[in-house]
Amino acid sequence: MLKLLVPLSLLITESLYADDIDQRVLIDGEVLYTEECQKCHDNSLVPISDGTSMQSLDDIRWQISTCVSALGIFWMPNDEEDVAQYLNHDFFHFENTPKPDS
Ligand code: HEC
Repeated sequence: MLKLLVPLSLLITESLYADDIDQRVLIDGEVLYTEECQKCHDNSLVPISDGTSMQSLDDIRWQISTCVSALGIFWMPNDEEDVAQYLNHDFFHFENTPKPDS
């Protein structure tokens, strides 16, 4: 039985990271964004953009923190990170740099 389980769990882990980002992160980010952010960032899901202010994933992280605190909503730190990953993956396409320690 154990012999069967080990390769199976390896397979699951591998498919989750096929895209480098855990799909659950992207789904969580999309749900959070749809719930809290579309009031201002319309239904097309495209963030407000002047095409110049966001230059990196860290800029997106910073802007999301700013929007979240301005709105007074209470997200866990990894909620912000999930939305940052989602917006970057679907819209901005910056290099996926690790989150700096804060
Ligand atoms: C009350 C309206 C409002 C809500 C709700 C809002 N934002 Fe924003 N957001 C703005 C405005 C205004 C800007 C432009 C700020 C600037 O350029 O200084 C902005 C800019 C941004 C940007 C930068 C986009 C770009 O291309 O420059 C991101 C990313 C962003 N918001 C994410 C979010 C997220 C994530 C949420 C949900 C937590 C959210 N916003 C909710 C008003 C809002």
